[in-house]
Amino acid sequence: MALIERHEWYDIARDTNWTPAYASESEIFPDLMTGAMGVPMEQWEHYDEPYKTSYPEYVKNQREKDSGAYSVKAALERSRILESSDPGWLGILKSHYGAIALGEYAAMSAEARMARFGRAPGMRNMATFGMMDENRHAQLQLYFPHSYCAKDRQFDWAHKAYHTNEWGAIAARHAFDDLFLSRSATDIAVMLTFAFETGFTNMQFLGLAADAAEAGDYTFSSLISSIQTDESRHAQIGGPALQILIANGRKEQAQKLVDIAIARAWRLFCLLTGTAMDYATPLQHRKQSFKEFMREWIVGQFERTLLDLGLDLPWFWDQMINEFDYQHHAYQMGIWYWRPTVWWNVAAGVTPDCRDWLEEKYPGWNDTFGKAWDVIIDNLLAGRTELTLPETLPIVCNMSQIPICAIPGERWNVKDYPLEYRGRTYHFNSEIDRWVFQQDPLRYRDHLTLVDRFLAGHIQPPNLMGALQYMNLAPGETGDDAHQYAWVASYRDKRYQKRAA
Ligand SMILES: [Fe+2]
Ligand SMILES: [Fe+2]
Repeated sequence: MALIERHEWYDIARDTNWTPAYASESEIFPDLMTGAMGVPMEQWEHYDEPYKTSYPEYVKNQREKDSGAYSVKAALERSRILESSDPGWLGILKSHYGAIALGEYAAMSAEARMARFGRAPGMRNMATFGMMDENRHAQLQLYFPHSYCAKDRQFDWAHKAYHTNEWGAIAARHAFDDLFLSRSATDIAVMLTFAFETGFTNMQFLGLAADAAEAGDYTFSSLISSIQTDESRHAQIGGPALQILIANGRKEQAQKLVDIAIARAWRLFCLLTGTAMDYATPLQHRKQSFKEFMREWIVGQFERTLLDLGLDLPWFWDQMINEFDYQHHAYQMGIWYWRPTVWWNVAAGVTPDCRDWLEEKYPGWNDTFGKAWDVIIDNLLAGRTELTLPETLPIVCNMSQIPICAIPGERWNVKDYPLEYRGRTYHFNSEIDRWVFQQDPLRYRDHLTLVDRFLAGHIQPPNLMGALQYMNLAPGETGDDAHQYAWVASYRDKRYQKRAA
């Protein structure tokens, strides 16, 4: 029997809205869960997902993708990637797995909310596939690092990070809870799939897959490509939802959701991808700087997508672009300096050659960040490693949960952006972070940053040791310099040569 072509039956088959007889519409689709913003059901039926697939097609495809990724892993099991990779690359792997693996699980819950409460049948259909995608991503990214755990327990943080109060894990959870888990189906379509995935994860995953291949880690490269192809499909849930909101006079609300999600995604990607691209990736493997990458993907491509939909650029767009020049450099200093508080070994990425590259890509780097690194390098050369280790905690932003930092040295611009709200003073890294808080203070006001917890006496003893225990970082897991300070030798040689000359 001949099968009917998909396009002949798809619209009827997926059109599962009907008029309920035994319960009211609002009981089945409560506003709180759908976030329909008062746009009636008939309007949502115009939702037209750009990517159409059927369940049998989906399963066949996914099965092939899964077997592809798992067989590459099996084939390369003996490739000794752990032993042969640059330690900077291993740091990227560990930070990625810890920050992302269970974030995928959170994304699965979010997709499930759209699958149940999405107001448009097409949205529910796509989100059902999206939910299975995210489950697959969580499984893959837990399974792959698992085989490394016996050799290196930092890989255990793929699973562990989310269950701890490690500061990066708090930052990731705070953002993911805000954008994925505690939102309505419509909010999720806009914030997770449109802003977060179309804008940022696509970029992270495309870039990472290329970097992995370049670094010779084909297992990770195939894993990431396998995930990325799912992302580019389910990220398309948000676009048509935005079209409906805008067509029905809800542009202002939609714009606000987009702006909040971009603001939050930017901070996390800056921390994770920015430091990975410009510092942890071995110099010979770098294709583009983080800034060039952001300009190409965010300014070049995502900006167009926003405008084509009829949205405006977020009010902070220029300020964000301005931050491409410095924010991740500041985060890098923080991660390296507070290295005992992360679950991977941090590559400093500041050999003389690296600095030439940084200066070329970010003119003025040597006069700002370079000066601060010089102090660290002098201490390391003099054998005073203890002076390059933290004794206190930095001030943490009440929105991003990441330390407040910016440009040091001659162009100093580090500033707290405080806000008084109901007798409590909140601290923010920028106007952008503060603005997000002001959009919904009730939502954010009771959260305590790691430093708030320290001051409230939750961390005992109140010192770095107590903080490490609080963050669940066991000996053998705490981060150190990825190259065991071998990079400092190039400065010793350089200074020796200078003196000899
Ligand atoms: Fe995913
Ligand atoms: Fe996703």
